[in-house]
Amino acid sequence: DVKEAYNCWLQYRKVDNDKLFQLYFKSVAAVSNSLIIQSVIQELELAFHSMYGKGPDISQQIHEQTTLILATYQDIKLADYGLNGDIFQEINDEGYVIKSSKNGDKEAILLIGKTDKGVLYATHHLLRLIQTGETLKELNILESPRNKIRMINQWDNMNGSIERGYAGKSIFYENNKITSNMERIKDYARLLSSVGVNAISINNVNVWKVETNLITNVLLPDVAKIADILRAYGIKTFLSINFASPIEIGDLTTADPLDNDVKQWWKQKVEEIYRYIPDFGGFVVKADSEHRPGPFSYNRNHADGANLLGEALQPFNGIVIWRCFVYNCMQDWRDRSTDRARAAYDHFKPLDGHFLDNVILQIKNGPMDFQVREPVSPLFGALESTNQVLEFQITQEYLGQQRDLCYLVPMWKEVLEFDTYSKGAGSTVKTIVDGSLFSSKISGIASVSNIGNDVNWTGHTLAQANLFGYGRLIWNPDLAAEEISREWIQLTFGNDETVIEQINHMLLDSWGIYENYTTPLGIGWMVNPNHHYGPNVDGYEYSRWGTYHFADRDGIGVDRTMETGTGYTGQYFSPNKEMFNSLDTCPDELLLFFHHVPYTHTLKSGETVIQHYYNSHFKGVEQVEELIARWILLEDKIDSYRFHNVLERLKMQLKNAKEWRDQVNTYFYRKSGIPDEKNRKIY
Ligand code: GCU
Repeated sequence: DVKEAYNCWLQYRKVDNDKLFQLYFKSVAAVSNSLIIQSVIQELELAFHSMYGKGPDISQQIHEQTTLILATYQDIKLADYGLNGDIFQEINDEGYVIKSSKNGDKEAILLIGKTDKGVLYATHHLLRLIQTGETLKELNILESPRNKIRMINQWDNMNGSIERGYAGKSIFYENNKITSNMERIKDYARLLSSVGVNAISINNVNVWKVETNLITNVLLPDVAKIADILRAYGIKTFLSINFASPIEIGDLTTADPLDNDVKQWWKQKVEEIYRYIPDFGGFVVKADSEHRPGPFSYNRNHADGANLLGEALQPFNGIVIWRCFVYNCMQDWRDRSTDRARAAYDHFKPLDGHFLDNVILQIKNGPMDFQVREPVSPLFGALESTNQVLEFQITQEYLGQQRDLCYLVPMWKEVLEFDTYSKGAGSTVKTIVDGSLFSSKISGIASVSNIGNDVNWTGHTLAQANLFGYGRLIWNPDLAAEEISREWIQLTFGNDETVIEQINHMLLDSWGIYENYTTPLGIGWMVNPNHHYGPNVDGYEYSRWGTYHFADRDGIGVDRTMETGTGYTGQYFSPNKEMFNSLDTCPDELLLFFHHVPYTHTLKSGETVIQHYYNSHFKGVEQVEELIARWILLEDKIDSYRFHNVLERLKMQLKNAKEWRDQVNTYFYRKSGIPDEKNRKIY
């Protein structure tokens, strides 16, 4: 049975507590009404049938039997339930209150949203409390999402393939058409909204020929069908667009952002889109990046390009999400003066303040490309007068491709907690993207999805934790990685303490393990070109992508210092600038990102670089063996499909880890001639 795998964290496992049902859920009043409230009622019916074997009576009026009340704060007399309306001034439009109260002489639970979206999120909060076995007594919860934009980017192509997808094919498209399986999209919307995601772009940032047509009247009616489903779950639909559209699907000969015909073309195009989708979110744009067209072709800059679209979208309150992943991907490896890490800052910092206020720059968490460890992009903090969105990658492109286990919340937390010092101490990334540090009009977090049409959505069942964790973390960046993982395990696998403890260990250790057997000390890459799975130490060493480790017989690492290197460290604010720039203060885990050092350089840990490489690679493999041992303990406690799915993946991971260990160790032993102090097997 694959039901458990499919339902992810919305299991709604049976609750043997009829009393609870009688006490709180027998009689529900949904006082407010809207499309979203209809979804809430559907979800409640489904959940209660599954948990208690019966559904509640649902009415619109509160009557004397009512014990669960759903409403927006304007639709109910708050004072009757001991609530003061002022608290709704403290929360934003998506926030909510969950409160235990009385309806006459009966106990009652109130789910009060500032808007209907708040009611939706409150409902999922309540369902989580039920499923994790928390008490439902004396509830008094006030929640409000920290980030305004909480977005997912699908990298789906219309032929059904997914760029960097590791869980089957697209759930949105097949055979160059929009799918007719709207049920699956609805289930995706349920999953996303249950963790607070409120925006999605439904096609790849690389917009190829067919996808360019998504904004034409041929495909817009079908896009509108998807938007209809997502809207009922509080999720706005966005499209990635091709900057050269005026040429490719219009009859213009230029896409020059300052050309009047081009401006007119986009205005009409946007009007047309809003006729089909009145609450369309806007555009995501990858321009002048990895051969995609953009303003550079016309000697215009990225502000010209983004503002062209911003102006067209403004009358409809649409936004432009303009990606900063702009760098020279035709670099000559002999050229030591170009440093890809510098590129985003060099391109966009000078344009700070030049963007319209419905334009948002989307910045990857690190300066390179989602490696196992990168410093935080120095653009965070450097743009004081520009809206921005942080981009994470849930799909595990460089992180084991959902064959290897890698729970990403701890990594994302480090990024969000990083202090940029842009306005002195406390200028953390999370305060930049939540809009508070620079009083940004609109900001938030986006991430590349990890789902496809595999029965369990994510290929590796435990990779579901990353999608869940992403949503929970960006709702509230102060949650601990472990709180999120525990909650996910309980919802997904139940409340058995052994299961919780073992899986929790596995998840929390997994990023470090992956780092150990791949590329510790911040150097990254060393992967097989193109598909990016498995080791190939020199795979990108003489390529045009700007991704080098510079290993020779004496040492390894990239000198990005101000004195002798590329000067990249100078893009940070003090004291980060000095901290990264100096060998003495640069943290071990990022050492080789910033410095070229001899293999015999001693780390703060006391090990030499080369010995650390040997040690961590041997250790990484042992740790994968431990993961397998932990998982095997759970055989009787987990359904067979999910148990075997994970076991099979862990075995693939072990094979991969050994390959990494042996190739990396052998490579560096041959380069350096320095033997392993512990005399272990190196080939
Ligand atoms: C990476 C990835 C590409 C993707 C690109 C992007 O380079 O390998 O597949 O298109 O990022 O973020 O645009």
